[in-house]
Amino acid sequence: MAIEEIWTEKYRPKKFSEIVGQEEVVKRLEAFVKNNTLPHCLFAGPAGVGKTTAALVIAHELFGENWHQNFLELNASDERGIDTIRTKVKDFARTVPLGYGFKIIYLDEADALTRDAQQALRRMMEKFAGITRFILACNYVSKIILPIQSRTAIFKFKPIDEKAMRKFLEKIAKNEKLKVDEKSYSIIYHISEGDMRRAINILQTAAQVKTTITPDVIYSVSSNPNPEEVKKMLELALNKKFEDARKVLISLIRDEGLSGEDIMKEIHNQIINLKIDEEKKARILAMAGDYEFRISEGCNPRIQLESFLAQLIIL
Ligand SMILES: Nc1ncnc2c1ncn2[C@@H]1O[C@H](COP(=O)(O)OP(=O)(O)O)[C@@H](O)[C@H]1O
Ligand SMILES: [Mg+2]
Repeated sequence: MAIEEIWTEKYRPKKFSEIVGQEEVVKRLEAFVKNNTLPHCLFAGPAGVGKTTAALVIAHELFGENWHQNFLELNASDERGIDTIRTKVKDFARTVPLGYGFKIIYLDEADALTRDAQQALRRMMEKFAGITRFILACNYVSKIILPIQSRTAIFKFKPIDEKAMRKFLEKIAKNEKLKVDEKSYSIIYHISEGDMRRAINILQTAAQVKTTITPDVIYSVSSNPNPEEVKKMLELALNKKFEDARKVLISLIRDEGLSGEDIMKEIHNQIINLKIDEEKKARILAMAGDYEFRISEGCNPRIQLESFLAQLIIL
């Protein structure tokens, strides 16, 4: 297959109207851009929901063709501390903005900075306010110091809801000539947990396997186990069919290449759905928690999961 463009880039919205599921945020940003009054901004929200995209759209809208010269993207956890950030900001702010009043500095993962570093950042924001606007991105507003919160317009980005995600994915599927069934869209949504980047990546990876996308294809390319398989494994174990349950486990690990953590996460979901008496369910959940902890601490996942299945039989 020819080297393909990454779909998250190919389909990254270029205009406000193409950003889905963030109506409130987009409405406010559009108003700022229209009035040429962009303040310093704080974009908060989970990964893959349009924070970087929105910043790029602002830059396109304000600067047109020259957006590249007037837009600096930094990542607080890549840079070696606030001093390198300061140097880069200084260099960037030194030249006059091309054909515009200010330049934009997008600082991703601003909540990775220590409180002291954030104080330094706040001073920097004030010092360069004349010729720059900062857009800070973070996961949680609460991890940003109050003096920065009070000096920025705060925008809360939400996980993309199922309807909005579905619409966007359908557009991609149509353009890429894919057939995607109902159930597959819903599975992609649940696996992605509202993260559009993840959803698009799952769709693209699945499309490299087959152009007709079904739940099987999605599970085969994602790190999520097929819930049906995990349910079957638990039921076999609860019915004292250890060898059969173990076979399912081995196939999840060996054939599907799933990690112990991902299998354990789905086991947890499935236990909750099991139709067994409450006390037994509680005991199994407590046990699952212990095994999950051991796996996360580095114990061999296969041995731990086999032991977990064995416990279900003894129970
Ligand atoms: N609200 C959205 N509407 C449409 N596409 C989106 C949206 N959010 C994310 N995407 C898609 O996911 C990719 C990653 O989004 P990005 O804005 O970089 O996320 P982040 O919030 O982590 O900065 C984009 O290139 C785009 O394809
Ligand atoms: Mg981003």
